[in-house]
Amino acid sequence: MSITIKDAAGIAAMRTACRLASEVLDFLTPHIQPGITTLEIDRLAAAHMAAQGTRSATIGYQPPGYPPYPAHLCTSVNHVVCHGIPADKPLKKGDIVNVDVTVITPEGWFGDNSRMYEIGECSIAARRLCQLTYQSMWLGIEQVRPGARLGDVGHAIQKFAEGHGLSVVREFCGHGIGQRFHEDPQVLHYGRPGTGEELVPGMTFTIEPMVNIGRRDIKEMNDGWTIVTKDRSLSAQWEHTVLVTPTGYEVLTLSAGSPAVPDFVQGMARAAA
Ligand code: MF3
Ligand code: CO
Ligand code: CO
Repeated sequence: MSITIKDAAGIAAMRTACRLASEVLDFLTPHIQPGITTLEIDRLAAAHMAAQGTRSATIGYQPPGYPPYPAHLCTSVNHVVCHGIPADKPLKKGDIVNVDVTVITPEGWFGDNSRMYEIGECSIAARRLCQLTYQSMWLGIEQVRPGARLGDVGHAIQKFAEGHGLSVVREFCGHGIGQRFHEDPQVLHYGRPGTGEELVPGMTFTIEPMVNIGRRDIKEMNDGWTIVTKDRSLSAQWEHTVLVTPTGYEVLTLSAGSPAVPDFVQGMARAAA
């Protein structure tokens, strides 16, 4: 596999796919409250995708060595790192949950994004984890411009997270995305500046750091999908899909309900029109 460079038509198609993926999260946001089950969130998302005219990229998704993924999105609660499968269990006050949505447009383009939700009042430690993980994602995004390297992105995330006493999951990474869900390159959330693939205008990829309060070690559950922290410490993740532009970056997974961008962001982030 190699990195695909999107032309003007591909970029336009990615803007649409990514805005729609973000709008699924906007739609879900008011529903994500104490008492709702993650399966109910899944059903709401499925209905909204149908109304949009998109499809879920996750349902039936089966990379080599995995069982087919059984749901329209991923819901990763508390110590679940990623790929949590929606279940018939209500969210309760104090939980934190990542909701990860990937849509496919009728034209066959993918948009991928996730956000953290705090359920009712959460502990200071949980809130801090969610906020610092969000900032780490944006610090990674801020590195994106032609001539920068993927190691610059990973380093910015790792330095910030570890500098705050948190740990970065190594086994899962961001990825190129376009007319396929997971393309080259792999976007590691750790690394050394000046190393790795050089960024070129027209690349589209995700940045999606998974950050733990405790150790970085993970384990897979028997369902073949759910990833949890080995020490059962809380884990958070945020995800955007970004485009490398001639002057920097454009965050594609923005919409009316996207959380505010951190104050330190200087770049060319803007909502896809
Ligand atoms: N959306 C996830 C990502 O960010 C992948 C989920 S694959 C699934 O890459 F099968 F678990 F849904
Ligand atoms: Co992704
Ligand atoms: Co995702």
